[in-house]
Amino acid sequence: MKPLLDIKNLHVSFLSHGQMLHAVSGIDFSLYEGETLGIVGESGCGKSATAKAITRLLPLAASKLSGEIWYEGEDLLSFPEKKMQSIRGKEIGMIFQDPMTSLNPTLKIGTQILEGYRKHHPHISYGEALDYTIHMLELVGIAQPAERIHCYPHTLSGGMRQRVMIAIALACKPKILIADEPTTALDVTIQAQILQLMKDVQLKMQTSIILITHDLSVIAGLCDRVLVMYAGKVVENATVEDLFYRPQHPYTQRLLQAIPKINLSPDDPLIPIEGVPPNLTESIEGCAFYPRCPSAMKICRQKQVPLLQIEEKHFSRCWKHARSLSICD
Ligand SMILES: Nc1ncnc2c1ncn2[C@@H]1O[C@H](COP(=O)(O)OP(=O)(O)O)[C@@H](O)[C@H]1O
Ligand SMILES: [Mg+2]
Repeated sequence: MKPLLDIKNLHVSFLSHGQMLHAVSGIDFSLYEGETLGIVGESGCGKSATAKAITRLLPLAASKLSGEIWYEGEDLLSFPEKKMQSIRGKEIGMIFQDPMTSLNPTLKIGTQILEGYRKHHPHISYGEALDYTIHMLELVGIAQPAERIHCYPHTLSGGMRQRVMIAIALACKPKILIADEPTTALDVTIQAQILQLMKDVQLKMQTSIILITHDLSVIAGLCDRVLVMYAGKVVENATVEDLFYRPQHPYTQRLLQAIPKINLSPDDPLIPIEGVPPNLTESIEGCAFYPRCPSAMKICRQKQVPLLQIEEKHFSRCWKHARSLSICD
């Protein structure tokens, strides 16, 4: 099957305090039609930089972007900004962590949905667009949508604002929805409702989703496949089942051990991942996880390890697999 989005050797660097910071260091992945792909990893590993690279929402003057982002036979990185504007919102929708900073506080929510829709559908009449706006609010579970279109964002709860963001993102029926920490600012019950909503809407609209989170439990309920990122690289790429039941990379294994269990007794220790991620302004010789890895070997410090294929749909970037795959020199 041909992927909908095919990302090759993507690099993102930022100019930070006079130094180049390598936020994303050569990642490759594909997104298939109807698929929900999770991207998980601790704060600062390059998840948002990846999302912003795909939508080309990086600060132009202070960032460097290279690689290939193939979408419908064209490389998005070769598009001029004007052409990119017709992709953003219409083909690739986005939802961010904090709806309060993404919604315009001076505009009624109905206007915000309606304007986005009319921008990409200029021939639609105002009346039709208004009906569609009410339909979208209904779809994302907002009661009395015909009245609620007149509300300003600050009068709504956090969960409702995130529903409005989803309605805006989905109004143009994008083929791809990128949701960057969409539930991080919400409490757990509302988080579950929003994730369920994304699942329902995906079924109705056949959208492919890239779901970015630092929280593995969010991944479990929603994703088909998962990329685990560490220090700007993909360290594991697996189906959600393989990731939770047969994690291969020591970093993934540690992430899973760090999740509190529901039946945790006071005597059970929580196992934190010791140490800190590397400084991304410095070049890294071997594996970036080496200083924190409980099973590190000599080669891990000396040599970069490629993403190794363990099974048909399971990849891990760890030298420990090399011996069994007989590629270690
Ligand atoms: N605009 C920016 N300028 C400088 N550094 C940035 C900028 N945006 C992100 N970074 C840095 O890039 C790295 C990756 O950031 P980000 O992709 O936001 O991480 P994540 O979303 O995984 O938490 C971090 O070290 C962060 O500090
Ligand atoms: Mg982020």
